[in-house]
Amino acid sequence: MTEMKHLRLERFTAALRDGKPDARTAAWMQAMNLGFHEEPMPEAGLLAMTGAFTIDGRTLTGVYDEHVPGLSLNPQYPVGTYGSLVKSLNTGGGNLLRAHLITAVTVRPSHRRRGILRRMITEDLALAKANGLAIAALTASEATIYGRYGFGRATAINRVQLSVRDGIGLLAPAAGSVIAADPASLLELGPRIFAAQHAATAGSIDHPYFYTRFTTGEWADEEQVKPLAGLRAAIHLGPGGEPDGYVTYVFAGWDKKPAQLKIKSLVAANAAARHGLWEYLGAHDLIECVTGPAPIDDALPWTLTDARAYEITASHDHLWLRILDVPAALASRPYAHDGTLVLRVRDSLGHASGTFGLRAASGSATVELLAEESDADIELDVTALSSLFLGGVPVRRLAEAGRIAGGSEVLAGMAELFAVDVLPYCETGF
Ligand SMILES: CC(C)(COP(=O)(O)OP(=O)(O)OC[C@H]1O[C@@H](n2cnc3c(N)ncnc32)[C@H](O)[C@@H]1OP(=O)(O)O)[C@@H](O)C(=O)NCCC(=O)NCCS
Repeated sequence: MTEMKHLRLERFTAALRDGKPDARTAAWMQAMNLGFHEEPMPEAGLLAMTGAFTIDGRTLTGVYDEHVPGLSLNPQYPVGTYGSLVKSLNTGGGNLLRAHLITAVTVRPSHRRRGILRRMITEDLALAKANGLAIAALTASEATIYGRYGFGRATAINRVQLSVRDGIGLLAPAAGSVIAADPASLLELGPRIFAAQHAATAGSIDHPYFYTRFTTGEWADEEQVKPLAGLRAAIHLGPGGEPDGYVTYVFAGWDKKPAQLKIKSLVAANAAARHGLWEYLGAHDLIECVTGPAPIDDALPWTLTDARAYEITASHDHLWLRILDVPAALASRPYAHDGTLVLRVRDSLGHASGTFGLRAASGSATVELLAEESDADIELDVTALSSLFLGGVPVRRLAEAGRIAGGSEVLAGMAELFAVDVLPYCETGF
């Protein structure tokens, strides 16, 4: 692409030199913060992030303009940033699939719409495919950016506000108990409880390392790794006394009306722990409501004595997926019904293109690439297949939306094959 003239792309890992982040690593992080409108990062933050990036094995991509005028902001800073790391995705039934996570995508305003994102992402997806990754994942700042690269919306997330003026009444009292805790006590316990939630939740992405320190309150957010003052924590103990859930939260301040607690992170290995933690939050005196993230398919309102106390204040897409290897991805999820299906998949980048035969039996499927001229039951784009993958949208909805072509009987059979009992949920941001 001619616009990429004078622009150099480098792919590297975060590195230390004499105990400090090397110049390229530090410049990349500052450029990323600039792109997300954050303050410049102090040296201690750069060092902490370098450690976290190393633990996660992140690959950093920077695009550098060799011809920026002398007056320009530090010419060492890349004009485009892009990061990737591999973490597991729960594809249902406890199955974990290695997923290629994309993060930290920024392009400087002076360099937008010159193909920088296109080059970074198309090269990166090709490398991920070559490295054997069957699926890529991201969370998007805008819903219009990533469809052109084959990503489809796969999970959504709600923000809810629970009115707790008189506490929370539960129709089925949650088993176990809740204790107040120091967030620091979650350093090792937090990741253990998250691992149990991750294993039990279809759509969940494993936490990047940042979350370990976020849970303890040492790092307030990923762009500014400084302590979060006023963080509180509580731990849920199951009937046998074993920790199986935790919540971290802050008081929003006396100026905020209605008086409220904000959940920073609520992680639970089972529904009883989750409901017990909400009940505990609702038991705080002087508090009128509790706000936080919640699954769109949430059991909590169904156990409240006052279901109207639970209000959804926002709802939006969260996880976007992009299948890179159709046989490997489709074989990694469970199937509640037996059946066969021949799918023709279109993909403008080619990674998922082809005609595939899927045979589901006894809960799992085998999927093979067929000859191109084979008759197909269903035709769809990789974006639609990626949205269907976890069952976050019914087959029928996508057919009504004109995104899947096939006869009505075949569509009904496909709907049975792809159906899930609980909608997928991902609470991890990255
Ligand atoms: C989003 C962003 C990375 C795009 O970078 P860019 O280098 O300008 O994108 P490109 O020039 O490679 O554009 C590639 C294509 O995406 C389209 N596109 C890019 N940004 C878009 C947007 N925000 N909305 C709709 N389309 C967009 C371009 O029109 C182009 O389309 P085409 O290939 O069909 O012609 C950049 O605008 C940015 O840094 N935004 C702020 C930070 C952000 O939102 N990051 C994403 C975090 S998930």
